Amino acid sequence: MSNLTNSPAWLALAAHRDEVGNRHMRELFAADAERFERFSLRASGLFLDYSKNRIDARTMDLLIGLARERGLESARAAMFAGRRINTTEDRAVLHVALRDRSAAPIEVDGQDVMPAVREVLERMGTFAEAVRSGEWRGYTKESITDVVNIGIGGSDLGPAMACQALAACGHERLTMHFVSNIDGDHLAGVLAKVDPRRTLFIVASKTFTTIETMTNAATARAWFLASGAAEADVAKHFVAVSTNAERVAAFGIDTANMFGFWDWVGGRYSMWSAVGLPIAIYVGRDNFNALLDGAHAMDCHFVEAPLDANMPVVLGLLGVWYRSFFDSSSISIAPYAQALARLPAYLQQLEMESNGKSVTRDGKPVETATCPVIWGEPGTNGQHAFFQLLHQGTDLIPVDFIAPLAASHKLADHHRLLLANCIAQSKALMVGKTADEVRTELSAGGLSGEALEALVPHRVFPGNRPSNTLLLPDLSPRSLGALIALYEHKVFVQSVIWGINAFDQWGVELGKQIASRIAAELAGDQTSAHDASTLGLIAAARTAA
Ligand code: F6P
Repeated sequence: MSNLTNSPAWLALAAHRDEVGNRHMRELFAADAERFERFSLRASGLFLDYSKNRIDARTMDLLIGLARERGLESARAAMFAGRRINTTEDRAVLHVALRDRSAAPIEVDGQDVMPAVREVLERMGTFAEAVRSGEWRGYTKESITDVVNIGIGGSDLGPAMACQALAACGHERLTMHFVSNIDGDHLAGVLAKVDPRRTLFIVASKTFTTIETMTNAATARAWFLASGAAEADVAKHFVAVSTNAERVAAFGIDTANMFGFWDWVGGRYSMWSAVGLPIAIYVGRDNFNALLDGAHAMDCHFVEAPLDANMPVVLGLLGVWYRSFFDSSSISIAPYAQALARLPAYLQQLEMESNGKSVTRDGKPVETATCPVIWGEPGTNGQHAFFQLLHQGTDLIPVDFIAPLAASHKLADHHRLLLANCIAQSKALMVGKTADEVRTELSAGGLSGEALEALVPHRVFPGNRPSNTLLLPDLSPRSLGALIALYEHKVFVQSVIWGINAFDQWGVELGKQIASRIAAELAGDQTSAHDASTLGLIAAARTAA
């Protein structure tokens, strides 16, 4: 494969960028009555309008050409075939197997993984239903009312985001809690609210070595025993989710109460595995299966749809277009659904831990910028906080608007107003407001002369600011599954274009190593060689302790 930036497709895109990049989207819409139909797609129940982007038909042709030139189709086939595409960890990448609903085998090194996947799913479903029905009881024979998931990163964000998103179908008796931070305030706040006799702890960690999770789990276990429960009662109140049975046993959780998964499931791609146990408990087995169905439908679309009608491919390529050809360094995620409040945080890990890389798969420096910063807040809140910068700031920040068409609540009129705001914001970003339009508006309001002219520059909106709008029929498990799988594959598409490994995360290691050294130093009075700043901060921390 030729180098990325001197490949024919890249050079053609670079030349094309000035042509289309200097045109205003107002003009592009005016010139093409079919623009909305041309640049919109349906897949797995989702609708994507990508017409409000700085593209024309040739841009998309060139981007699709780039995807072909970069070997997207063969890379995709390698992932779905269970090849060890995560080369730095020598692992296959098969989160798609976790939600595969066909009867076909999926092999890693000649071994069909599907029987084990189905077995764990079955055990999860049975356990979830037992907790929901009240058949699973605590040590005083009371039903479970509170579930506390202890995990961090991929062992927290997916289930936390999904339980909040799907609260409308959550079990009435159950309150879900998620503890991730090693800051004791997080766990203490939850423990203050729950009754040990009616609480189930799920200790979720792929490795079962993560310091935050192990510390929180040990504290929760000690709190449980201190409440008057016996060692033998732990089995009724603590279950583990992990790939590491040895560590689970060493921690003191019977492996009969462990739900396993496999090294070919990356942490940030794991909500479909046993890591999704809190979701299955909260919304029930059938709804969890519907979540998997939605994701599987998106997987099939990703594999089968032609590249130019393939939603994850189109979304991924648009991201590359702005990152690499407009130097746009962040993307704002704007879910117009309060229930999706944790989606931006979930996507931060998914995208930034996957594609926040500076070397290519073969260890060479990347030739272009890679993953942008992902950030956001639910609409309409964001409109009253940072949207000012999106409309009139100096950076070009594409926005993904995400909205369910049907409300999960029955409150009159709220949803109409919510959707109106969502649609209005994408329009405002696109059309902007010209100086002449501002003048007309101000003079209609009675202003004239110098006073009017002084205000004009402040009230102009440049517009031409890109966005995608993703419409979900509703916030159901199926729609959510399709939405998350869409972003997973988008991330994969971008990693193939940039030539990076989306499935390792070596960048998180250095801080962990140094923290364990400093934690030991804070416990004693010896300090090893550090720079002056670190020594000064350690001294300050000792004074406070
Ligand atoms: O430190 C980053 C990370 O390794 C993530 O990739 C992962 O999701 C998280 O920590 C938690 O890891 P574990 O599930 O092994 O506790």
